[in-house]
Amino acid sequence: MFNHKAFYILLIGCILLVLAACNQDKEAVAKDETENNTSEHVDDTGTTKNEPEEATLVLPDVVLQKGDNSEDVKNLQKVLTELGYEITISETFSQETVWALTDFQLQSGNLAITGIYDEETRQELDNYLEQELVVKPGDGLPFKEDEFLDEDTIIIGNPYEVLALINKQHALPEGFIPSDLVVPDVRFPFVEDLPKKQMRQVAADALEKMFTDADAESLDLFAQSGYRSYERQVSLFATYASNYGEEEANKFSARPGESEHQTGLTMDVTSPHVNYALVTEFGETEEGIWLEKHAAEYGFIIRYPKGKEDITGYQYEPWHLRYVGVKAATEIMERGITLEEYLEEKLTD
Ligand code: DAL
Ligand code: ZN
Repeated sequence: MFNHKAFYILLIGCILLVLAACNQDKEAVAKDETENNTSEHVDDTGTTKNEPEEATLVLPDVVLQKGDNSEDVKNLQKVLTELGYEITISETFSQETVWALTDFQLQSGNLAITGIYDEETRQELDNYLEQELVVKPGDGLPFKEDEFLDEDTIIIGNPYEVLALINKQHALPEGFIPSDLVVPDVRFPFVEDLPKKQMRQVAADALEKMFTDADAESLDLFAQSGYRSYERQVSLFATYASNYGEEEANKFSARPGESEHQTGLTMDVTSPHVNYALVTEFGETEEGIWLEKHAAEYGFIIRYPKGKEDITGYQYEPWHLRYVGVKAATEIMERGITLEEYLEEKLTD
């Protein structure tokens, strides 16, 4: 028998189910719409907000180097970041910034490797940006922090930067051999083709210019000893230590890893007036006096000045020239300070 009551209950149930389903769909659509709207809304405002800032890359036209603090440094860091260097943008020419520049200079193949931002580096960075050339950060020089060898000595992470501080507290990595050693075209008081004739390209170029200008003033400069390997320093220092005792020897000869000669940025120079020897009297010769006055114009400093033994840790060596670039050399020589003092000031400013 047809049960009307049951039929109506069933019918009402079905209608309720259909209504409930419809409502759910509507809610889902409404939710979708809300989400779409929201994302559209985010897009609408976000488009302007999230869009990369108008790329205002500016390549500064001043020389910049470690320790500098300025808007120019920040602009340089933005350019390096654009090229793929993951460095902190901070307005401070940090060790990371030195690394990025050194790495870029090593990869470019056309630049002096210094870690300093100069006109040639500016032009090359400009080329890379304009022609969308690719740099592979770290391919030239893997990034390395300075690290402690023991509690008294730090091994520096970037041995290529020309402002590297090498002394009794800061050593070069044992295996460091500069990749751009060349023999400068200058006079030597010996004819053999010895490794000590070499310097890094940037320092060799500067030395050649300096010798040419000194020649023009009828001076008689000779280059005596440039690049020295870690191993050579091991045997030299061992000889001096056995003759004079380690402490005494370390007043004029560096322990292995602590000699600037391993950087390839140093040349000991002399003249016939002191029989081509490396002696303090050289400082009083015409050549020694001229160097004191003019070496900075070529980017060199007299690294171990008289009266600064407590700071440098070494006796006066008027013959030991170290390349640091013209900007630092000019200030160091004008003020009569050491590389230690110069860097200490710049890095704690
Ligand atoms: N004469 C300097 C200190 C050296 O041995 O590197
Ligand atoms: Zn020397």
